[in-house]
Amino acid sequence: MFGDGVRCLVVVGSQWGDEGKGKIVDVLAKDADWIARYQGGANAGHTVRVGEDEFILHQIPSGVLYPGKRCALGNGMVLDPVTFFQEIDELKARGHEVEDRILVSFRIQLVLSYHKLLDRAQEESRGKGAIGTTGRGIGCAYEDKVARVGVRAVDLAVPDRLRELVESGAARANDKLRALGSQAEVDAAALYDELSALAPRLSARACDVGLALRKALDRGDKVLLEGAQGAMLDVDHGTYPFVTSSNTTAGAAATGVGLGPTALDAVLGVVKAYTTRVGSGPLPTELPEEEAARLRELGAEYGATTGRPRRTGWFDAAVVRYAARLNGVTALAVSKLDVLDPLPEVKLGVGYRLNGEEVEEFPADLSTLARIEPLYETMPGWGTPSSEARRLEELPAGARAYLDRIAELTGLPIRYVSVGTRRQQIIDAQD
Ligand code: IMP
Repeated sequence: MFGDGVRCLVVVGSQWGDEGKGKIVDVLAKDADWIARYQGGANAGHTVRVGEDEFILHQIPSGVLYPGKRCALGNGMVLDPVTFFQEIDELKARGHEVEDRILVSFRIQLVLSYHKLLDRAQEESRGKGAIGTTGRGIGCAYEDKVARVGVRAVDLAVPDRLRELVESGAARANDKLRALGSQAEVDAAALYDELSALAPRLSARACDVGLALRKALDRGDKVLLEGAQGAMLDVDHGTYPFVTSSNTTAGAAATGVGLGPTALDAVLGVVKAYTTRVGSGPLPTELPEEEAARLRELGAEYGATTGRPRRTGWFDAAVVRYAARLNGVTALAVSKLDVLDPLPEVKLGVGYRLNGEEVEEFPADLSTLARIEPLYETMPGWGTPSSEARRLEELPAGARAYLDRIAELTGLPIRYVSVGTRRQQIIDAQD
C-alpha cells in the first residue's frame, strides 16, 4: 500500500473490531518507518504471530515486533501506564527490546485505577442493559477527558499538579462508586505514589507526537496509523450506545495523533471474511447459536483481551459499505478466509429489508435495527484449504468467487487476503 504517493496510511477495522488488524498492520509495518495508534487503549487486543511465537498487544502498536521501527501512542488514546510498562517488560522478557523505540504523546490521557473500578461498577449497575465493556476503564477515562478533569502524561512531570488532579479525581470517583453501591474505594495517596514511581519512565518517552510524525513525513518517512476496534463501535457512527467511547473511524486518525487531515493519503479497511462481535448490541447477520458455535470454534473466536466468546455471523456487505463510506476506505484487506474452508456453503448478507421494503442505509436507531431482516445470497463452499495460497490464482475457485462477490457488493478493490495467522500467510493482490 505504501509507494504510489502513499506515505501516510490509515488501517481501520470496518466491522465490530477483531477484524485481524494486528496481523495486517504487522505485515504492512515491514514497509513503514513509523506505526502510531490514534484512539482506544487497552481494550484492544491485537494478535501478532512471529514464527512460533504469538503476541497479544493491547496498547503498543502492532508494528513494534519489527526491529528498528518507531512507534507512537497518540493523544487520542487513553493510556493505562501500569499495564503499558507491563506490556513492554513482557516483550523484553521474550527477547524484544522495544522501549527506546516507543514515543508517547505529552497530551495522552491516562487511565487510572479508579476508571477501571468505575467501569466495572457502572456495568454492574446497568444490569440487562450492560454494554459488555472490556472493563479496562476506557469509557470512564474518555468521560474525564471530555469533562476536562483528566490526567495527561505531561502532568506526571509536575508533582504538585499531579497530586491535585489525583486527589480531586479520587474524591469524585469515590462519590460515584458510593452512588453506584460499590464497596470499592480509591486511596488517593497510594495512587499518587504509584504514578510518581512511574513518572520518570513515562516522561522519558513523552513528546509531541504530532510534531515527530510531521517531521518524519517531511523527511519522506512512511507512517502507518493503526486503528483499534471497528467502525461499528465508533461512538458517533456505530451501534450507539453499544459502542466504545472513541471515534474509531479514519477521520479521527488525524486528530488522534496531531496531524492535519490532508496528511492522510489512503485508508485500508480490514474486514473478516465473516462477522464477529464481542459484547452486547445489534448484529444483523448473527447466526443461531448452534451454527454460531461452529464458526466460533473454526475461527477460534474468543476475545484477545477478555477471552469472552465472540458472537458470530455471516459477512454483512451493508455494514462494510457503510464503514467504507465513513472511513473513505480506498482498499480492503480480508482476513481469516481460511476459516470458511470446511463449510459446505457460505452466505453473504447483501442488504436489509424492513416491512417488505429494502433498506438502503444502515439504520441509526436500535428499534429499527432490531426489526431489519438481512437478505442473503448463498454460495457453494470450496472444501479445499486456502491456507497455502500466496497468490490469488492459487486460491480455490470457490474462494475467489466469494472474494469477487465481496468486492462487487462493497464496490472496493481487495488488496490483501489473509489465509492464516502466520506472517507469510498473506496474499497481496498486486503481486
Ligand atoms: P469498552 O471499549 O471497553 O468501553 O467496550 C465497549 C464495547 O466495545 C464493548 O462491546 C466491547 O466488547 C467492545 N470493544 C472494545 N474494544 C474492542 C476490541 O478491541 N475488539 C472488539 N470489541 C471491542
